[in-house]
Parts: sequence; structure tokens; C-alpha cells
Amino acid sequence: MQEIKEKLNKLKKEKNAVILAHIYQLPEIQDIADFVGDSLDLSRKAAETGADAIVFCGVHFMAETAAILSPQKKILIPDANAGCPMADMITAEKLREYKKRYDNPFTVAYVNTSAGVKAESDICCTSSNAVNVLKSVESETKDSDIIFVPDRNLGSYAEKMSGRKIVVWNGFCPTHNNMLPEMLLKAKKEHPEAEVLVHPECRPEVVGLADFALSTGGMCKYVRASSKKEFIIGTETGILYKLQKENPDKKFYPVSSLAVCPNMKKITLAKVLDVLDNMKNIVTVPDDIREKAYAPIKRMLEVNA
Ligand code: 13P
Ligand code: SF4
Repeated sequence: MQEIKEKLNKLKKEKNAVILAHIYQLPEIQDIADFVGDSLDLSRKAAETGADAIVFCGVHFMAETAAILSPQKKILIPDANAGCPMADMITAEKLREYKKRYDNPFTVAYVNTSAGVKAESDICCTSSNAVNVLKSVESETKDSDIIFVPDRNLGSYAEKMSGRKIVVWNGFCPTHNNMLPEMLLKAKKEHPEAEVLVHPECRPEVVGLADFALSTGGMCKYVRASSKKEFIIGTETGILYKLQKENPDKKFYPVSSLAVCPNMKKITLAKVLDVLDNMKNIVTVPDDIREKAYAPIKRMLEVNA
């Protein structure tokens, strides 16, 4: 491990690169990353960094968002096949067709979408700012039909919390959607003192049983500040490593130990070293799409999370 760390440090210096990692990444990836965060924090970091290259340890849409925000930087993804099945549940073509059903559509795209879908949208959001994004467009969308793509669970959560009526696309994250209410009820029975935090990508019936629905970054922040000692966590299990590392005196129980995102786990140390050494797997977005996709992402970043 020490040897790999030294190699990485040398390469990072040589290439003026940083390593960003999502909270769902394997422990060894979190340990070598310069920054570990949720999708909103990662896009902010990617935009802000003065580095020439970013090794993006996450899934494709995250690296693509960084490439849209910073076309002058080289964005490298350690595994080009690390995709997101939920993002694949909508295409730019399908969205264009869908919007035709409405006279005055206004599209909010979860950042878990392709650049092409973002280019067809008015504003983006992540799980940490979806409610505030909806609130921020309240006056300008009074006479619009708000279309939310692609996550039906986050969409219905944001609809409930913002009080806005929205049309929600029927997509979902398999990893989160597979967590069932009975699993959470079982965990609650086993750990009656624990506070329950779930991701808004979970089913509404699961969110309804939780104390709070939070983004992954929101969960980390909440746990750090809480005086509680036990937590049931309803999201991808990669987060447990970060939670435990930051809070050694607290206990964490997953709603399901099967809640693993296979795509997030495609990123390995060997692949990180390889892409940085050879400057390969560079994520790019064609200029015409990039220009159109930039505006909704930029607009999202201007909303206070
Ligand atoms: P956040 O990082 O925004 O919480 O989202 C998690 C997720 O599912 C990313 O795919
Ligand atoms: Fe996509 Fe779900 Fe994996 Fe996140 S956890 S990358 S939403 S499949």
C-alpha cells in the first residue's frame, strides 16, 4: 500500500493531478483520494481545483459533469465501463419526445444523467439540493409543467418536501430501490436506539420509516454533528467505511448489506495507477452538447444547498 501511495504521489506531482472519490468507493480508494465527497461536493471540487488532471473515482456521469464544467482539464475515469443503470433509464431523444406532451415544460435533471439529457434540461440537481433547486425556480415555473428525470423516488421525495406538483420519470436506482421496508423494520427491531438515515433514492415506503432522508454527504455531516451513538444507514454500503473512520466511537448498521453498487466497485487501485500513468480513459463531451449541458449544471451550483 505504501509503495502504491508513493507511486501515486509521484505521478500526481508529475501530471499536476488530483484524485476525487465518491463516498461509495472501496476503502483503499477513499484512503488514497485527495477528496472524498457526494456528487454535489465532487462537482464543486472538480470545478474549483487548479489541477490540470482529475482522476475521477466514481461513475461515468460524475466524470462527465466534471468534463462539462472544466473542459480545459483532463478528466480520467479509472474504468470506462463504470456507468449508472439509473442514468441509462432516460436518453436525450426520449426526453425530447416526452417534453412535446407539455405546452410549457421545465425540466429538472438529476445529475445522474448523460450530458445529452442535461443538455435538454433547464436545471440540474443532486440528492442534496433537489428540494432547494425546486424552490429556487418557484416563481419562474408558476405556469410550467415541471418534469423531473430520471429518479422516481428522489422525484417523489422532492415533490413532497417542496410542495410543488411535478411529473416524475419512471427511473430508479436498483441498489437503492432493492431496499425494502421489511429490511428496515428488521434493522429497527434489532437496534431500537439507532437513528435511521436513508438516501432519497430509496422507495417512499422506506423514506417514510426513516428519521431523515439525506444525501451521502448530508449523512456524513449529520452523523459528525450528532450526539447519538447508533445509526441505521439506508444507502450503498461504501459509505460505512467513511462513517466509521470519522466516528470511531459510533456504531453503524446497514439496512441491507446487499446494497452495493457494482459500478462504483469497478474502480480499483491498479486502474487508478494505470490511467494516471498513461493518461488514458479521458472523458470528453462534444462541444455542442457540452455548451448546452453547462448552463443547467452551472445554474444548480448557484443554488444554495
Ligand atoms: P449523492 O452522492 O448525491 O448522495 O448520490 C448518491 C448516488 O447514488 C450517486 O450515484
Ligand atoms: Fe447509479 Fe445507484 Fe450506482 Fe448511484 S448507486 S451510481 S444511482 S446505480
